[in-house]
Amino acid sequence: MKPGVFLLLLLQVSGSADGRCFCQVTGDLDDCACDVETIDDFNNNQLFPKLQTLLESDYFRFYKVNLNKPCPFWTAGSHCGSRHCAVQPCSPSEVPEGIRDSAHNKYSAEVNEQLDECERAEHLGAVDVSLSAETREALLDWSKHDDEAERFCVVDDEESPDSQYVDLLLNPERFTGYKGPGAWQIWNSIYEENCFKPYTVRRPLFPDTFQSSSGSEARSFYSWLEGQCVEKRAFYRLISGLHASINIHLSARYLLDDSWFQKKWGHNVSEFMQRFDSELTAGEGPKRLRNLYFLYLIELRALAKVLPFFQQPSLKLYTGRPEEDGKHKELLLDILQLARSFPLHFDETSLFAGNEKEAAKLKEDVRLAFLNISRIMDCVECFKCRVWGKLQTQGLGTALKILFSERQIEALPTSSAQRPRFQLSRQEIVSLLNAFGRISTSVRELQNFRSLLAEER
Ligand SMILES: *[C@@H]1O[C@H](CO)[C@@H](O)[C@H](O)[C@H]1NC(C)=O
Ligand SMILES: *[C@@H]1O[C@H](CO)[C@@H](O)[C@H](O)[C@H]1NC(C)=O
Repeated sequence: MKPGVFLLLLLQVSGSADGRCFCQVTGDLDDCACDVETIDDFNNNQLFPKLQTLLESDYFRFYKVNLNKPCPFWTAGSHCGSRHCAVQPCSPSEVPEGIRDSAHNKYSAEVNEQLDECERAEHLGAVDVSLSAETREALLDWSKHDDEAERFCVVDDEESPDSQYVDLLLNPERFTGYKGPGAWQIWNSIYEENCFKPYTVRRPLFPDTFQSSSGSEARSFYSWLEGQCVEKRAFYRLISGLHASINIHLSARYLLDDSWFQKKWGHNVSEFMQRFDSELTAGEGPKRLRNLYFLYLIELRALAKVLPFFQQPSLKLYTGRPEEDGKHKELLLDILQLARSFPLHFDETSLFAGNEKEAAKLKEDVRLAFLNISRIMDCVECFKCRVWGKLQTQGLGTALKILFSERQIEALPTSSAQRPRFQLSRQEIVSLLNAFGRISTSVRELQNFRSLLAEER
């Protein structure tokens, strides 16, 4: 190839949207010995298909969650993202008729539009809690089984009479119309108040400052981050990865057509670009995607580590149908073995490896920050988003719990006479695998967006 032609090709590639989203999302990842291409191949071709099958099983599709906990930090619910709005801006009967009906009123069009928006968001964000009578009965039986076996520690949420089962397959994570100040406040309080960051260091693309942002904010933010110990840096990247994953889902299951006779969900490339294109996000997009891969590795590592726990013969994925339960346990073990076979694992021995006292303090800091973030999820106004938010933070929390219990897991007793020192509740198991399922799906979706962007060229 002539040098000129090569240069031209290079320019075309780096100038295209395809190149702009993904050019920096390649090669080695910081703080770990792994590269993006290896993860793509491993996930998309080997792990993802098996995991999908597992997550469709009854054991994994029902997640017990308490959606009625009040937000402990601020008065939430003045918004229309949920079905049970504390203030009900969405009910047309409460809007004075004059405003609603008068075609001459200059506000009416706007109000009606707002109402439509509200109703739409309310509908899309609602959780479908329908379960067949049969399923309901079976679930009662399962929890009885859990109690009898005394194998699972109880998370208080699970015991609350307000907790209910949600069928995750009936409530896919997708575009709900939940946007605006409410959604913004959630992420903002996570990043600003729970990521060890002082207020004086501004996040790049902090919404208020976006217009005037000159790049100096990003520079000072990243130099602050670099100065942090590896644990706090990791914490920030996990949260950012989670955020990226959720946004990938919303762009991949966007409500493209919302007419009375059909709803069509699919990929919205322009939404994806607004969040991840390097030019449109002042260079932040590719960093977010790299953080997604980082999160993937952390959760994958946890799956690899937890294998001995699931290998215990006494552990059953109980749904009351022994044949299926056995089959699903086989599949789960197969997936965990696969996770273990992944060659380039993140090495978490570099985490919490400093002097013992410091390490213990750090570990506790991270644990508390994490606990707090899961409480912030009770402030998410859109119920469907709340389900997935809770599930994913609980899943990541469980992954961290596993990573820091390595010794206990290895010392699991071989006879059932001894009481094991490491336990996972059914809720933790379900959230761990489903949360990883989300991240795995996001990595798979990136391949779809790559080809869609390449087509648009
Ligand atoms: C928990 O989060 C809230 C809301 O962001 C924040 O105000 C509070 O300071 C956090 N608490 C701790 C202990 O981090
Ligand atoms: C895709 O998302 C953008 C916002 O990023 C929106 O304006 C547009 O209408 C969406 N496209 C479709 C087909 O829904």
